Amino acid sequence: MTFPNDFVWGCATASYQIEGAAFEDGKGWSVWDMMCRREGAIWHGQNGDVSCDHYRRYKEDVGLMAEIGLGAYRFSVSWPRVIPDGIGAANAAGLDFYSRLVDELLAHGIQPWVTLFHWDYPLALYRRGGWLNRDTADWFGEYVALVVKTLGDRVKHWITHNEPQCTIGKGHLEGGHAPGDKLATREWLLAAHNLLLSHGKAVQTIRSHSPSPCQVGWAPVGCAGIPATDAPQDVAAAQGGTYAVNWKNTWNMTWWNDPVFFGAYPEDGLKLFGSDAPHVASGDMDTIRQPLDFLGYNLYYGPHVRLGAEGKPEIAPESTGHALTAFDWPITPRCMYWAPKFFYERYKIPLVVTENGIACCDWVALDGQVHDEARIDYLHRYLRELKRALGEGVPVKGYFLWSLMDNFEWEQGYKQRFGIIHVDYPSGRRTLKNSAYWYRDVISTQGADI
Ligand code: GCO
Repeated sequence: MTFPNDFVWGCATASYQIEGAAFEDGKGWSVWDMMCRREGAIWHGQNGDVSCDHYRRYKEDVGLMAEIGLGAYRFSVSWPRVIPDGIGAANAAGLDFYSRLVDELLAHGIQPWVTLFHWDYPLALYRRGGWLNRDTADWFGEYVALVVKTLGDRVKHWITHNEPQCTIGKGHLEGGHAPGDKLATREWLLAAHNLLLSHGKAVQTIRSHSPSPCQVGWAPVGCAGIPATDAPQDVAAAQGGTYAVNWKNTWNMTWWNDPVFFGAYPEDGLKLFGSDAPHVASGDMDTIRQPLDFLGYNLYYGPHVRLGAEGKPEIAPESTGHALTAFDWPITPRCMYWAPKFFYERYKIPLVVTENGIACCDWVALDGQVHDEARIDYLHRYLRELKRALGEGVPVKGYFLWSLMDNFEWEQGYKQRFGIIHVDYPSGRRTLKNSAYWYRDVISTQGADI
């Protein structure tokens, strides 16, 4: 059995992680440009000033995408590159970069999938309250309108937000990501509500400005429990955990997706947060609950869940010495079978894997190759589980491997290598890893050997 003939095979990246040219051609500061100048915030004090220099090398990179045979490429637009102050005057050079990138992709038969927000929030708007300021939804709508007017004649797939759980959780609660805030529950819940409003405004804006029909979705972290065993009680426990808001943090699916798909916050979350829950003004949920064409999810691993002795779901401890990535993430392929099942059973909408991949300790060997067999094995195992879910009728429409190339991994700087293309940062030299050739064969055979 193969994957469906119309299954979309892609790779994903994000603007701040690969572009460089952080202060060139009129681009404004983002909160990540600020964060990288905060003592101790980033591994070895690294930053995205140059990164993979994709801003200059994009034609070479699109050529490599074509060599791999990608059907699609998911990238993000840098808000402050196209509107330096976040609102107001547009930057023609910034818009022109994305227009040229889209043309290059289309010239190589590669579908552009555009993420409108992948964390590089304009510093000028952060100084006006950022996600805490309810106006941010309108600011985001103004930015989205400009991008859709510029690219909408050629871009037919839009993703509003990447991982809102991280935007708020890492950037405004834990503080490890830009802008590095550690807000109280009431505050970060307000920021989350304004982000949800911005999502809804963005969908409305895309629908009204796109010159032709297009597909719109969003890409939360795929927070899902994995049944420790296939026993019905463990499956039920894992599904219950996947649909629950268990803790006063952002690491769940339903606080984010229930407003988007049902127009209401989940009852368990409202009970848990109590008076800290955000005020929902009249019309807010109508704005947030805009019809979508797909639910994207970024998925790397998940906890194993079982029914505990007291009859409640509990996280089962991992076995001693279980496999870990270079990032110390557990390798749990079965999450790629169970997560789409659980998500589809709740939200009844087509799904897209908007990110999946692994950080490995890669380098160019003496023979000039990058022997990343561990990445190949990881991807094979996860795609095999995804194929199993598809075989049971779960409508997963595509898979975007994270990432096309090694890049700036946020607070980890360049320590973590997720790419199927190796990047030598001092020279900018790209080397296709063995996994790139493996992925090329998977794509050309529609995963026949998975
Ligand atoms: C995320 C982000 C990516 C990361 C990748 C590896 O999912 O955290 O979307 O920007 O680089 O996931 O952590």
